[in-house]
Amino acid sequence: MFAFSSSPLQMSFLLAAILTSLLTVTVSSIDGIGTTDINYSSIQRDHQRGYELEMVKTKGNQFVVGGKPFYVNGFNTYWLMILAVDPLTRVKVTETFKQASAIGLTVCRTWAFNDGGWRALQKAPFVYDENVFQALDFVISEAKKNNIRLILSLTNSMEGYGGKAQYVKWGKAAGLNLTSDDDFYTNPIVKGYYKAYVKTVLNRVNTFTNITYKEDPTIFAWELINEPRCLSDPSGNKLQSWIEEMAFHVKSIDPKHLLEIGLEGFYGNSTPDRFQFNPDSYSGQVGTDFIRNHQAMGIDFATTHLYPDAWLSNSNPEDHLEFAKSWMQSHIDDAENVLGMPVVFAEFGMSAKDKNFSVSSRNQFIDMVYKTILNSTRRGGGAGGCLLWQIFPEGTDFMDDGYAVVLKTSKSTEKILSLQSKKLKKFNSKCSWRCNWTCRKN
Ligand SMILES: *[C@@H]1O[C@H](CO)[C@@H](O)[C@H](O)[C@H]1NC(C)=O
Ligand SMILES: *[C@@H]1O[C@H](CO)[C@@H](O)[C@H](O)[C@H]1NC(C)=O
Ligand SMILES: *[C@@H]1O[C@H](CO)[C@@H](O)[C@H](O)[C@H]1NC(C)=O
Ligand SMILES: *[C@@H]1O[C@H](CO)[C@@H](O)[C@H](O)[C@H]1NC(C)=O
Ligand SMILES: *[C@@H]1O[C@H](CO)[C@@H](O)[C@H](O)[C@H]1NC(C)=O
Ligand SMILES: *[C@@H]1O[C@H](CO)[C@@H](O)[C@H](O)[C@H]1NC(C)=O
Repeated sequence: MFAFSSSPLQMSFLLAAILTSLLTVTVSSIDGIGTTDINYSSIQRDHQRGYELEMVKTKGNQFVVGGKPFYVNGFNTYWLMILAVDPLTRVKVTETFKQASAIGLTVCRTWAFNDGGWRALQKAPFVYDENVFQALDFVISEAKKNNIRLILSLTNSMEGYGGKAQYVKWGKAAGLNLTSDDDFYTNPIVKGYYKAYVKTVLNRVNTFTNITYKEDPTIFAWELINEPRCLSDPSGNKLQSWIEEMAFHVKSIDPKHLLEIGLEGFYGNSTPDRFQFNPDSYSGQVGTDFIRNHQAMGIDFATTHLYPDAWLSNSNPEDHLEFAKSWMQSHIDDAENVLGMPVVFAEFGMSAKDKNFSVSSRNQFIDMVYKTILNSTRRGGGAGGCLLWQIFPEGTDFMDDGYAVVLKTSKSTEKILSLQSKKLKKFNSKCSWRCNWTCRKN
Protein backbone atom coordinates (compact mmCIF):
# COMPACT_ATOMS: atom_id res chain seq x y z
CA MET A 1 0.00 0.00 0.00
CA PHE A 2 0.98 3.58 -0.43
CA ALA A 3 2.19 5.72 2.39
CA PHE A 4 -0.95 7.50 3.48
CA SER A 5 0.95 10.14 5.39
CA SER A 6 2.91 11.52 2.44
CA SER A 7 2.21 15.17 1.79
CA PRO A 8 1.09 16.15 -1.70
CA LEU A 9 4.44 17.85 -2.20
CA GLN A 10 6.41 14.73 -1.31
CA MET A 11 4.05 12.78 -3.49
CA SER A 12 4.63 14.99 -6.50
CA PHE A 13 8.40 14.67 -6.14
CA LEU A 14 8.05 10.94 -5.83
CA LEU A 15 5.88 10.84 -8.94
CA ALA A 16 8.29 13.00 -10.86
CA ALA A 17 11.10 10.65 -9.91
CA ILE A 18 9.13 7.59 -10.98
CA LEU A 19 8.12 9.13 -14.27
CA THR A 20 11.64 10.31 -14.93
CA SER A 21 12.96 6.82 -14.62
CA LEU A 22 10.18 5.34 -16.72
CA LEU A 23 10.67 7.65 -19.65
CA THR A 24 14.44 7.79 -19.38
CA VAL A 25 14.29 11.54 -19.30
CA THR A 26 16.94 13.71 -17.76
CA VAL A 27 15.60 16.98 -16.46
CA SER A 28 18.34 19.46 -15.98
CA SER A 29 16.21 22.48 -15.19
CA ILE A 30 13.91 22.41 -12.24
CA ASP A 31 10.76 23.45 -14.09
CA GLY A 32 11.02 20.60 -16.54
CA ILE A 33 10.93 22.87 -19.58
CA GLY A 34 14.40 24.34 -20.34
CA THR A 35 16.86 21.67 -21.38
CA THR A 36 14.64 18.64 -21.02
CA ASP A 37 16.13 15.73 -22.90
CA ILE A 38 13.46 13.26 -23.93
CA ASN A 39 14.14 9.78 -25.27
CA TYR A 40 11.76 9.98 -28.22
CA SER A 41 12.53 6.49 -29.45
CA SER A 42 11.21 4.96 -26.27
CA ILE A 43 8.07 7.15 -26.36
CA GLN A 44 7.45 6.23 -29.99
CA ARG A 45 7.82 2.60 -29.16
CA ASP A 46 5.17 3.00 -26.45
CA HIS A 47 2.80 4.66 -28.92
CA GLN A 48 3.24 1.91 -31.48
CA ARG A 49 2.45 -0.71 -28.91
CA GLY A 50 -0.71 1.26 -28.23
CA TYR A 51 -2.62 -0.02 -25.27
CA GLU A 52 -2.53 -3.58 -26.56
CA LEU A 53 0.07 -4.64 -24.10
CA GLU A 54 -0.36 -2.13 -21.32
CA MET A 55 -2.39 -2.60 -18.19
CA VAL A 56 -3.65 0.49 -16.42
CA LYS A 57 -1.84 1.01 -13.14
CA THR A 58 -1.74 3.61 -10.42
CA LYS A 59 1.20 5.67 -9.23
CA GLY A 60 0.33 7.59 -6.13
CA ASN A 61 -2.92 9.38 -6.87
CA GLN A 62 -2.83 9.05 -10.66
CA PHE A 63 -3.58 6.41 -13.26
CA VAL A 64 -0.77 5.53 -15.62
CA VAL A 65 -0.49 3.48 -18.78
CA GLY A 66 2.99 2.52 -19.82
CA GLY A 67 4.37 5.13 -17.45
CA LYS A 68 2.21 7.93 -18.85
CA PRO A 69 -0.68 9.62 -17.06
CA PHE A 70 -4.15 8.41 -17.97
CA TYR A 71 -6.92 10.80 -16.97
CA VAL A 72 -10.31 9.42 -17.81
CA ASN A 73 -13.32 10.82 -19.58
CA GLY A 74 -15.70 7.90 -19.70
CA PHE A 75 -19.23 6.64 -19.42
CA ASN A 76 -21.56 3.92 -18.21
CA THR A 77 -23.84 1.70 -20.27
CA TYR A 78 -24.95 -1.04 -17.94
CA TRP A 79 -26.76 -3.37 -20.39
CA LEU A 80 -24.06 -4.16 -22.97
CA MET A 81 -23.76 -7.86 -22.14
CA ILE A 82 -27.50 -8.28 -21.94
CA LEU A 83 -28.20 -6.80 -25.38
CA ALA A 84 -25.21 -8.67 -26.82
CA VAL A 85 -26.92 -11.99 -26.10
CA ASP A 86 -29.36 -11.49 -28.98
CA PRO A 87 -27.76 -11.15 -32.44
CA LEU A 88 -30.47 -8.63 -33.33
CA THR A 89 -29.50 -6.20 -30.55
CA ARG A 90 -25.78 -7.06 -30.47
CA VAL A 91 -25.18 -4.27 -32.97
CA LYS A 92 -26.16 -1.76 -30.23
CA VAL A 93 -23.00 -2.67 -28.33
CA THR A 94 -20.84 -1.82 -31.31
CA GLU A 95 -22.79 1.40 -31.91
CA THR A 96 -22.30 2.47 -28.30
CA PHE A 97 -18.54 1.99 -28.44
CA LYS A 98 -18.19 3.62 -31.86
CA GLN A 99 -20.14 6.70 -30.86
CA ALA A 100 -18.34 7.04 -27.53
CA SER A 101 -14.96 6.53 -29.09
CA ALA A 102 -15.71 9.16 -31.73
CA ILE A 103 -15.95 11.81 -29.00
CA GLY A 104 -12.82 10.61 -27.24
CA LEU A 105 -14.34 8.63 -24.37
CA THR A 106 -11.84 6.00 -23.24
CA VAL A 107 -13.45 4.03 -20.42
CA CYS A 108 -16.83 2.34 -20.09
CA ARG A 109 -18.23 0.86 -16.88
CA THR A 110 -20.69 -1.98 -17.39
CA TRP A 111 -22.23 -5.06 -15.74
CA ALA A 112 -20.27 -8.30 -15.95
CA PHE A 113 -23.02 -10.07 -14.02
CA ASN A 114 -26.60 -11.13 -14.38
CA ASP A 115 -27.57 -13.37 -11.50
CA GLY A 116 -30.69 -15.43 -12.21
CA GLY A 117 -33.61 -14.28 -14.33
CA TRP A 118 -33.73 -13.00 -17.90
CA ARG A 119 -30.58 -13.75 -19.87
CA ALA A 120 -28.72 -14.69 -16.70
CA LEU A 121 -25.00 -15.30 -16.98
CA GLN A 122 -25.08 -17.09 -13.62
CA LYS A 123 -28.22 -19.21 -13.79
CA ALA A 124 -27.63 -20.69 -10.34
CA PRO A 125 -24.55 -20.97 -8.12
CA PHE A 126 -21.77 -22.64 -10.13
CA VAL A 127 -23.98 -22.78 -13.27
CA TYR A 128 -23.17 -20.43 -16.13
CA ASP A 129 -24.82 -19.81 -19.48
CA GLU A 130 -22.19 -20.21 -22.20
CA ASN A 131 -24.25 -18.15 -24.61
CA VAL A 132 -24.33 -15.18 -22.23
CA PHE A 133 -20.64 -15.61 -21.46
CA GLN A 134 -19.97 -15.30 -25.18
CA ALA A 135 -21.98 -12.09 -25.14
CA LEU A 136 -19.62 -10.74 -22.49
CA ASP A 137 -16.68 -11.94 -24.59
CA PHE A 138 -18.14 -9.94 -27.46
CA VAL A 139 -18.46 -6.79 -25.34
CA ILE A 140 -14.81 -6.98 -24.30
CA SER A 141 -13.67 -7.70 -27.82
CA GLU A 142 -15.67 -4.78 -29.27
CA ALA A 143 -14.38 -2.43 -26.57
CA LYS A 144 -10.83 -3.33 -27.49
CA LYS A 145 -11.49 -2.71 -31.19
CA ASN A 146 -12.72 0.76 -30.34
CA ASN A 147 -9.89 1.66 -27.95
CA ILE A 148 -12.17 1.64 -24.96
CA ARG A 149 -11.27 0.06 -21.65
CA LEU A 150 -13.84 -1.47 -19.34
CA ILE A 151 -14.59 -1.29 -15.65
CA LEU A 152 -16.47 -4.53 -15.01
CA SER A 153 -18.78 -4.79 -12.04
CA LEU A 154 -19.19 -8.28 -10.56
CA THR A 155 -22.57 -8.03 -8.87
CA ASN A 156 -25.21 -5.62 -7.60
CA SER A 157 -26.20 -4.46 -4.16
CA MET A 158 -29.24 -2.74 -5.64
CA GLU A 159 -32.30 -4.29 -7.24
CA GLY A 160 -31.72 -5.32 -10.81
CA TYR A 161 -30.03 -8.21 -12.58
CA GLY A 162 -29.94 -10.37 -9.50
CA GLY A 163 -27.30 -9.16 -7.13
CA LYS A 164 -27.15 -9.76 -3.40
CA ALA A 165 -30.90 -10.42 -3.11
CA GLN A 166 -30.60 -13.24 -5.66
CA TYR A 167 -27.61 -14.74 -3.87
CA VAL A 168 -29.63 -14.83 -0.66
CA LYS A 169 -32.57 -16.43 -2.47
CA TRP A 170 -30.24 -19.14 -3.74
CA GLY A 171 -28.95 -19.64 -0.22
CA LYS A 172 -32.47 -20.00 1.14
CA ALA A 173 -33.38 -22.46 -1.60
CA ALA A 174 -30.37 -24.51 -0.53
CA GLY A 175 -31.80 -24.63 2.99
CA LEU A 176 -29.62 -21.99 4.64
CA ASN A 177 -31.15 -20.04 7.51
CA LEU A 178 -30.93 -16.54 6.03
CA THR A 179 -33.05 -13.71 7.37
CA SER A 180 -31.85 -10.62 5.48
CA ASP A 181 -30.31 -9.72 2.12
CA ASP A 182 -27.33 -8.48 4.10
CA ASP A 183 -26.56 -12.11 4.95
CA PHE A 184 -24.91 -11.92 1.52
CA TYR A 185 -21.99 -10.21 3.27
CA THR A 186 -21.63 -12.70 6.12
CA ASN A 187 -22.90 -16.20 5.34
CA PRO A 188 -19.89 -18.37 4.45
CA ILE A 189 -21.77 -20.46 1.90
CA VAL A 190 -23.25 -17.45 0.13
CA LYS A 191 -19.83 -15.80 0.13
CA GLY A 192 -18.58 -19.02 -1.46
CA TYR A 193 -21.11 -18.63 -4.30
CA TYR A 194 -19.84 -15.12 -5.01
CA LYS A 195 -16.20 -16.20 -4.82
CA ALA A 196 -16.83 -19.03 -7.26
CA TYR A 197 -18.51 -16.62 -9.66
CA VAL A 198 -15.63 -14.16 -9.47
CA LYS A 199 -13.09 -16.91 -10.03
CA THR A 200 -14.96 -18.18 -13.09
CA VAL A 201 -15.20 -14.72 -14.65
CA LEU A 202 -11.56 -13.81 -14.02
CA ASN A 203 -10.34 -17.11 -15.47
CA ARG A 204 -12.63 -16.96 -18.49
CA VAL A 205 -10.87 -17.26 -21.86
CA ASN A 206 -12.49 -14.86 -24.32
CA THR A 207 -13.82 -16.83 -27.29
CA PHE A 208 -13.32 -13.88 -29.64
CA THR A 209 -9.77 -12.92 -28.66
CA ASN A 210 -8.42 -16.01 -26.87
CA ILE A 211 -7.24 -13.70 -24.10
CA THR A 212 -7.98 -14.73 -20.52
CA TYR A 213 -9.95 -11.97 -18.81
CA LYS A 214 -7.41 -11.68 -16.01
CA GLU A 215 -4.67 -11.06 -18.59
CA ASP A 216 -6.61 -8.62 -20.76
CA PRO A 217 -5.51 -4.95 -20.61
CA THR A 218 -8.84 -3.99 -22.20
CA ILE A 219 -10.15 -4.37 -18.68
CA PHE A 220 -9.34 -1.21 -16.75
CA ALA A 221 -10.49 -2.58 -13.40
CA TRP A 222 -12.78 -4.97 -11.58
CA GLU A 223 -15.51 -3.67 -9.32
CA LEU A 224 -16.60 -5.85 -6.39
CA ILE A 225 -20.24 -4.78 -6.27
CA ASN A 226 -22.35 -1.93 -7.59
CA GLU A 227 -23.33 0.55 -4.83
CA PRO A 228 -22.92 -1.67 -1.77
CA ARG A 229 -24.91 -0.77 1.31
CA CYS A 230 -25.39 -2.78 4.47
CA LEU A 231 -28.26 -1.19 6.36
CA SER A 232 -28.32 -3.91 9.01
CA ASP A 233 -24.93 -2.75 10.30
CA PRO A 234 -24.46 1.04 10.45
CA SER A 235 -21.14 0.48 12.25
CA GLY A 236 -19.78 -0.56 8.85
CA ASN A 237 -17.90 -3.59 10.22
CA LYS A 238 -19.85 -6.19 8.23
CA LEU A 239 -19.24 -4.54 4.87
CA GLN A 240 -15.63 -3.78 5.76
CA SER A 241 -14.88 -7.45 6.47
CA TRP A 242 -16.57 -8.47 3.24
CA ILE A 243 -14.54 -5.95 1.22
CA GLU A 244 -11.29 -7.13 2.83
CA GLU A 245 -12.06 -10.78 2.18
CA MET A 246 -13.21 -10.27 -1.42
CA ALA A 247 -10.40 -7.87 -2.36
CA PHE A 248 -7.95 -10.53 -1.22
CA HIS A 249 -9.85 -13.14 -3.22
CA VAL A 250 -9.76 -11.08 -6.44
CA LYS A 251 -6.08 -10.19 -6.04
CA SER A 252 -5.12 -13.77 -5.33
CA ILE A 253 -6.60 -14.78 -8.71
CA ASP A 254 -5.73 -11.64 -10.65
CA PRO A 255 -2.94 -9.49 -9.22
CA LYS A 256 -2.54 -7.54 -12.48
CA HIS A 257 -5.76 -5.57 -12.72
CA LEU A 258 -6.84 -2.63 -10.64
CA LEU A 259 -9.67 -3.17 -8.20
CA GLU A 260 -12.29 -0.84 -6.79
CA ILE A 261 -15.30 -1.47 -4.57
CA GLY A 262 -18.24 0.23 -6.32
CA LEU A 263 -19.04 2.64 -3.49
CA GLU A 264 -21.31 5.66 -3.74
CA GLY A 265 -18.81 7.44 -1.52
CA PHE A 266 -20.73 8.43 1.59
CA TYR A 267 -18.61 9.34 4.57
CA GLY A 268 -19.02 6.98 7.51
CA ASN A 269 -18.09 6.53 11.14
CA SER A 270 -14.33 6.70 10.70
CA THR A 271 -14.63 10.39 9.74
CA PRO A 272 -17.49 12.07 11.62
CA ASP A 273 -15.99 15.46 10.70
CA ARG A 274 -16.80 14.65 7.05
CA PHE A 275 -20.51 13.89 7.59
CA GLN A 276 -21.19 17.51 6.63
CA PHE A 277 -20.36 16.65 3.00
CA ASN A 278 -22.93 13.84 2.76
CA PRO A 279 -26.23 14.71 1.08
CA ASP A 280 -28.16 13.99 4.30
CA SER A 281 -27.75 12.36 7.71
CA TYR A 282 -29.23 9.06 6.49
CA SER A 283 -26.44 8.41 4.00
CA GLY A 284 -23.86 8.24 6.81
CA GLN A 285 -25.78 5.31 8.33
CA VAL A 286 -25.96 2.87 5.40
CA GLY A 287 -23.02 0.76 6.54
CA THR A 288 -20.46 2.26 4.15
CA ASP A 289 -17.45 4.47 4.79
CA PHE A 290 -15.59 6.24 1.97
CA ILE A 291 -12.29 6.46 3.85
CA ARG A 292 -12.19 3.22 5.81
CA ASN A 293 -13.55 1.03 3.02
CA HIS A 294 -10.99 2.31 0.54
CA GLN A 295 -8.13 1.67 2.95
CA ALA A 296 -8.78 -2.07 2.68
CA MET A 297 -5.77 -3.98 1.39
CA GLY A 298 -6.03 -4.63 -2.34
CA ILE A 299 -8.25 -1.68 -3.22
CA ASP A 300 -6.42 0.44 -5.80
CA PHE A 301 -8.63 3.43 -6.32
CA ALA A 302 -11.62 5.14 -4.80
CA THR A 303 -15.00 5.79 -6.36
CA THR A 304 -17.95 7.97 -5.63
CA HIS A 305 -21.23 8.47 -7.43
CA LEU A 306 -22.96 11.79 -7.75
CA TYR A 307 -26.72 12.26 -8.06
CA PRO A 308 -27.70 15.64 -6.68
CA ASP A 309 -31.21 15.49 -8.16
CA ALA A 310 -31.98 12.16 -6.51
CA TRP A 311 -30.01 12.75 -3.31
CA LEU A 312 -31.27 16.21 -2.36
CA SER A 313 -34.98 16.49 -1.76
CA ASN A 314 -36.85 19.62 -2.84
CA SER A 315 -33.85 21.13 -4.49
CA ASN A 316 -33.32 23.27 -7.54
CA PRO A 317 -30.52 23.21 -10.12
CA GLU A 318 -28.47 25.76 -8.18
CA ASP A 319 -28.50 23.59 -5.07
CA HIS A 320 -27.39 20.67 -7.24
CA LEU A 321 -24.34 22.51 -8.50
CA GLU A 322 -23.37 23.73 -5.06
CA PHE A 323 -23.67 20.25 -3.57
CA ALA A 324 -21.76 18.64 -6.44
CA LYS A 325 -18.90 21.09 -6.08
CA SER A 326 -18.38 20.48 -2.40
CA TRP A 327 -18.92 16.69 -2.72
CA MET A 328 -16.29 16.43 -5.45
CA GLN A 329 -13.76 18.69 -3.79
CA SER A 330 -13.93 16.89 -0.44
CA HIS A 331 -13.42 13.52 -2.12
CA ILE A 332 -10.56 14.80 -4.25
CA ASP A 333 -8.90 16.26 -1.16
CA ASP A 334 -9.28 12.97 0.71
CA ALA A 335 -8.01 10.91 -2.21
CA GLU A 336 -4.88 13.06 -2.20
CA ASN A 337 -4.31 13.69 1.46
CA VAL A 338 -5.69 10.63 3.19
CA LEU A 339 -5.97 7.73 0.75
CA GLY A 340 -3.04 8.39 -1.59
CA MET A 341 -4.97 6.96 -4.54
CA PRO A 342 -6.99 8.35 -7.45
CA VAL A 343 -10.73 8.89 -7.12
CA VAL A 344 -13.10 8.29 -10.02
CA PHE A 345 -16.55 9.83 -10.14
CA ALA A 346 -17.83 6.53 -11.47
CA GLU A 347 -21.46 7.56 -11.95
CA PHE A 348 -22.91 11.01 -12.32
CA GLY A 349 -25.95 12.17 -14.19
CA MET A 350 -29.34 13.82 -14.11
CA SER A 351 -32.68 12.16 -14.64
CA ALA A 352 -35.10 13.43 -17.26
CA LYS A 353 -37.79 12.16 -14.89
CA ASP A 354 -36.93 14.81 -12.28
CA LYS A 355 -39.56 17.57 -12.17
CA ASN A 356 -36.93 20.29 -12.48
CA PHE A 357 -35.00 18.61 -15.30
CA SER A 358 -33.92 20.51 -18.36
CA VAL A 359 -31.23 19.75 -20.90
CA SER A 360 -29.55 23.03 -20.09
CA SER A 361 -29.36 22.27 -16.37
CA ARG A 362 -27.97 18.82 -17.18
CA ASN A 363 -25.37 20.43 -19.44
CA GLN A 364 -24.46 22.91 -16.74
CA PHE A 365 -24.06 20.07 -14.27
CA ILE A 366 -21.85 18.00 -16.57
CA ASP A 367 -19.79 21.06 -17.38
CA MET A 368 -19.27 21.77 -13.69
CA VAL A 369 -18.17 18.19 -13.01
CA TYR A 370 -15.70 18.42 -15.88
CA LYS A 371 -14.30 21.76 -14.70
CA THR A 372 -13.75 20.37 -11.23
CA ILE A 373 -11.88 17.41 -12.70
CA LEU A 374 -9.73 19.71 -14.85
CA ASN A 375 -8.94 21.90 -11.87
CA SER A 376 -7.42 18.80 -10.29
CA THR A 377 -5.73 17.51 -13.47
CA ARG A 378 -4.07 20.86 -13.99
CA ARG A 379 -2.11 20.46 -10.77
CA GLY A 380 -1.62 16.69 -11.08
CA GLY A 381 -4.28 16.07 -8.46
CA GLY A 382 -6.20 12.99 -7.40
CA ALA A 383 -9.28 13.27 -9.62
CA GLY A 384 -8.64 10.37 -11.98
CA GLY A 385 -11.71 11.08 -14.07
CA CYS A 386 -15.43 10.64 -14.32
CA LEU A 387 -17.97 8.37 -16.01
CA LEU A 388 -21.30 9.79 -17.11
CA TRP A 389 -24.37 7.72 -16.22
CA GLN A 390 -25.12 6.93 -19.06
CA ILE A 391 -24.61 6.81 -22.85
CA PHE A 392 -27.17 5.14 -25.11
CA PRO A 393 -27.31 4.65 -28.86
CA GLU A 394 -30.67 5.27 -30.55
CA GLY A 395 -33.32 2.60 -30.29
CA THR A 396 -32.53 1.39 -26.77
CA ASP A 397 -35.00 3.57 -24.86
CA PHE A 398 -36.62 0.49 -23.37
CA MET A 399 -33.52 0.13 -21.17
CA ASP A 400 -33.56 3.81 -20.09
CA ASP A 401 -33.84 4.63 -16.38
CA GLY A 402 -34.27 8.35 -17.13
CA TYR A 403 -30.57 9.17 -17.21
CA ALA A 404 -29.74 8.10 -20.76
CA VAL A 405 -27.94 10.58 -22.98
CA VAL A 406 -28.49 9.67 -26.63
CA LEU A 407 -25.56 11.34 -28.33
CA LYS A 408 -27.17 11.49 -31.76
CA THR A 409 -30.10 13.50 -30.48
CA SER A 410 -28.32 15.47 -27.72
CA LYS A 411 -25.86 17.51 -29.72
CA SER A 412 -25.31 20.19 -27.06
CA THR A 413 -24.39 17.56 -24.48
CA GLU A 414 -22.24 15.66 -26.96
CA LYS A 415 -20.25 18.81 -27.59
CA ILE A 416 -19.45 19.23 -23.88
CA LEU A 417 -18.31 15.60 -23.63
CA SER A 418 -16.16 15.90 -26.70
CA LEU A 419 -14.48 19.08 -25.49
CA GLN A 420 -13.57 17.48 -22.18
CA SER A 421 -11.98 14.54 -24.01
CA LYS A 422 -9.86 16.94 -26.04
CA LYS A 423 -8.69 18.81 -22.95
CA LEU A 424 -7.80 15.65 -21.05
CA LYS A 425 -6.02 14.19 -24.05
CA LYS A 426 -3.81 17.24 -24.13
CA PHE A 427 -2.98 16.81 -20.47
CA ASN A 428 -2.33 13.11 -20.87
CA SER A 429 0.21 13.72 -23.61
CA LYS A 430 1.70 17.01 -22.43
CA CYS A 431 2.12 15.80 -18.90
CA SER A 432 4.13 12.86 -20.09
CA TRP A 433 6.18 14.70 -22.67
CA ARG A 434 7.04 17.46 -20.28
CA CYS A 435 7.67 15.02 -17.51
CA ASN A 436 6.10 17.38 -15.07
CA TRP A 437 3.17 15.84 -13.31
CA THR A 438 1.85 19.09 -11.97
CA CYS A 439 1.32 20.48 -15.48
CA ARG A 440 1.07 24.08 -14.29
CA LYS A 441 2.54 25.37 -17.55
CA ASN A 442 -0.51 24.20 -19.49
C1 LIG B 1 6.44 21.50 -12.52
O1 LIG B 1 6.25 22.80 -13.03
C2 LIG B 1 5.90 23.76 -12.08
C3 LIG B 1 5.62 25.07 -12.79
O2 LIG B 1 6.58 25.34 -13.77
C4 LIG B 1 7.04 23.89 -11.05
O3 LIG B 1 6.70 24.83 -10.07
C5 LIG B 1 7.25 22.52 -10.40
O4 LIG B 1 8.34 22.58 -9.51
C6 LIG B 1 7.52 21.47 -11.45
N1 LIG B 1 7.58 20.16 -10.81
C7 LIG B 1 8.53 19.28 -11.05
C8 LIG B 1 8.43 18.01 -10.27
O5 LIG B 1 9.42 19.46 -11.84
C1 LIG C 1 16.22 5.36 -25.62
O1 LIG C 1 15.51 4.20 -25.25
C2 LIG C 1 15.85 3.06 -26.03
C3 LIG C 1 14.91 1.95 -25.63
O2 LIG C 1 14.72 1.88 -24.24
C4 LIG C 1 17.32 2.71 -25.81
O3 LIG C 1 17.67 1.56 -26.57
C5 LIG C 1 18.17 3.88 -26.23
O4 LIG C 1 19.53 3.61 -25.94
C6 LIG C 1 17.73 5.15 -25.50
N1 LIG C 1 18.44 6.29 -26.06
C7 LIG C 1 19.03 7.20 -25.29
C8 LIG C 1 19.69 8.34 -26.01
O5 LIG C 1 19.05 7.14 -24.06
C1 LIG D 1 -32.20 -18.64 12.04
O1 LIG D 1 -31.37 -17.52 12.32
C2 LIG D 1 -31.96 -16.62 13.20
C3 LIG D 1 -31.08 -15.37 13.27
O2 LIG D 1 -29.73 -15.72 13.24
C4 LIG D 1 -32.15 -17.27 14.57
O3 LIG D 1 -32.76 -16.38 15.46
C5 LIG D 1 -33.06 -18.51 14.38
O4 LIG D 1 -33.17 -19.20 15.59
C6 LIG D 1 -32.50 -19.43 13.30
N1 LIG D 1 -33.47 -20.48 13.00
C7 LIG D 1 -33.11 -21.74 12.89
C8 LIG D 1 -34.22 -22.69 12.54
O5 LIG D 1 -31.96 -22.13 13.05
C1 LIG E 1 -8.05 -18.89 -30.82
O1 LIG E 1 -7.49 -20.16 -30.64
C2 LIG E 1 -7.99 -21.15 -31.53
C3 LIG E 1 -7.45 -22.50 -31.13
O2 LIG E 1 -6.10 -22.43 -30.81
C4 LIG E 1 -7.63 -20.76 -32.96
O3 LIG E 1 -8.15 -21.67 -33.86
C5 LIG E 1 -8.21 -19.38 -33.24
O4 LIG E 1 -7.81 -18.93 -34.51
C6 LIG E 1 -7.76 -18.38 -32.20
N1 LIG E 1 -8.46 -17.10 -32.42
C7 LIG E 1 -7.86 -15.93 -32.32
C8 LIG E 1 -8.73 -14.72 -32.53
O5 LIG E 1 -6.69 -15.80 -32.06
C1 LIG F 1 -37.88 22.23 -8.12
O1 LIG F 1 -37.28 23.46 -7.78
C2 LIG F 1 -38.05 24.26 -6.88
C3 LIG F 1 -37.31 25.54 -6.63
O2 LIG F 1 -36.80 26.08 -7.81
C4 LIG F 1 -38.27 23.51 -5.58
O3 LIG F 1 -39.07 24.29 -4.73
C5 LIG F 1 -38.93 22.17 -5.87
O4 LIG F 1 -39.06 21.43 -4.68
C6 LIG F 1 -38.10 21.39 -6.88
N1 LIG F 1 -38.76 20.14 -7.21
C7 LIG F 1 -38.19 18.96 -7.01
C8 LIG F 1 -38.99 17.76 -7.41
O5 LIG F 1 -37.07 18.81 -6.54
C1 LIG G 1 -9.37 23.92 -7.46
O1 LIG G 1 -8.60 23.07 -6.63
C2 LIG G 1 -8.14 23.66 -5.42
C3 LIG G 1 -7.22 22.69 -4.71
O2 LIG G 1 -7.81 21.47 -4.48
C4 LIG G 1 -9.35 24.03 -4.58
O3 LIG G 1 -8.93 24.64 -3.36
C5 LIG G 1 -10.24 24.98 -5.37
O4 LIG G 1 -11.41 25.25 -4.64
C6 LIG G 1 -10.62 24.38 -6.70
N1 LIG G 1 -11.31 25.39 -7.52
C7 LIG G 1 -12.41 25.09 -8.22
C8 LIG G 1 -13.00 26.22 -9.00
O5 LIG G 1 -12.92 23.99 -8.23
